[in-house]
Amino acid sequence: MSAPAIQPPADLIDKLVSLCKQRGFVFPSSEIYGGIGALYDFGPLGVRLRANIRKAWWKSMVEERDDIEPIETSIIMNSRVWEASGHVSGFSDPLCDCTGTCRRRWREDNLPGERRARGKPADASGCPECGGVLTAPRQFNLMFKTFIGPVEDSASQVYLRPETAQGIFVNFSNVLNATRRRLPFGIAQNGRSFRNEISPGNFVFRLREFEQMEMEFFCEPGTDLDWHTYWCDARLRWYVESLGVRESQLRLRVHDQKELSHYSTATSDIEYLYPFGWGELEGVADRTDFDLGVHAQHSGRDLSYFDTAGNRRFIPYVIEPAVGVDRIFITLLVDAYDEDVVRDEKRVVMHLHPDLAPVQVAVLPLSKKAILCEPARRIERDLRRHFATEYDETQSIGKRYRRQDEIGTPLAITFDFDSLEDNAVTIRERDAMTQVRVPVANLQTALADQLDDCRKRAAARASG
Ligand code: GAP
Repeated sequence: MSAPAIQPPADLIDKLVSLCKQRGFVFPSSEIYGGIGALYDFGPLGVRLRANIRKAWWKSMVEERDDIEPIETSIIMNSRVWEASGHVSGFSDPLCDCTGTCRRRWREDNLPGERRARGKPADASGCPECGGVLTAPRQFNLMFKTFIGPVEDSASQVYLRPETAQGIFVNFSNVLNATRRRLPFGIAQNGRSFRNEISPGNFVFRLREFEQMEMEFFCEPGTDLDWHTYWCDARLRWYVESLGVRESQLRLRVHDQKELSHYSTATSDIEYLYPFGWGELEGVADRTDFDLGVHAQHSGRDLSYFDTAGNRRFIPYVIEPAVGVDRIFITLLVDAYDEDVVRDEKRVVMHLHPDLAPVQVAVLPLSKKAILCEPARRIERDLRRHFATEYDETQSIGKRYRRQDEIGTPLAITFDFDSLEDNAVTIRERDAMTQVRVPVANLQTALADQLDDCRKRAAARASG
């Protein structure tokens, strides 16, 4: 039994927005022109953190498995893919406009209960912002449209993919034939997706351009519910064991019948308790044979599977664990953020898992004097091949420690005047701020051992 969930403070998102900008994790897109809604750029540390998130997912979903193949498909696909999948007719949100003073747009299903006006004229209780009258909801398709080739007409209209999954379904036969796989097996893909969200927000939680990591696991009909349970369990454990997310802040929520997508018979969300409440981190859906079935029907191609043992042909069922890189990114920051007091001063520290931290080892000469900087630089250069390192000689040592704590660097090495005599350095650990003196000759092994200790502490923190 893990500890009860703790509601993060409501102002945490604002604190993260400011930390991410200041330290170089996330910048508003096109900021010098006033930005653009729900689009962000990732700075030097953000890029490293995202790369580590992808790497961890890829390792667990592809490299460590013998039953999952990778694929990379195009963002723009033949529009018939989206007609067949149901996205052209059904990938929409109900939108209400405020006709009062604020003129805001609302997703009808985000309005408080009594204001909902599903299929009815504007609700008397009106706009939550200004009290104005709301229009009746109309369906708004979330797919971004563009044109292929020089002529902008309906024949050349295409879409930016709203999910990476369809690229996998339309390649099912290609992968099956190329790899001669037998069921059950999966196909995994990571890449950008685009949705013209009506109510994006909460920083990088809901974006218009985002990155998904999806895996479609093809199995025999009748085994799908067992595989659904298997993947719900495996994915939930991954957050705790591999990413160090606190188990107490996670839960599995089963969709009820009304909530299920048209293609699904069972879906569970892995949810996290964000500053704005419980929210979807990852979805695990039983998509049945819906996608392969509709693509077979619309394309006229045979997308069935021949089971030699049972001497029968059928369309496989699919279990889909699907998550966004950006969603994991915000989850890690919320989960890792902490404030404590050190020598009467507030310290911000990110308890990031050592395998995810953008910098694992910071090398800091005690002062800017060349006599310290040159050997410290050499040490950093030597360590670079083994760890994610950073060299920093700016500001006072205290400020540099604070910066490393804030960006979640688990270990910092200080090269001081004694180092010139004893050829040893100090390793400072982020969480407990303990310091040990280690000969430079043993540094690589000592750091590897300390990072192992950090992994154990991350596991203990995650399991509560
Ligand atoms: N293929 C199924 C699918 O796309 P989804 O629940 O719409 O299902 C899967 O998306 C995951 O992608 C979500 O759990 C979330 O992690 C991420 N995601 C979806 N929409 C997003 C958005 N607008 N911004 C950031 N991440 C998003």
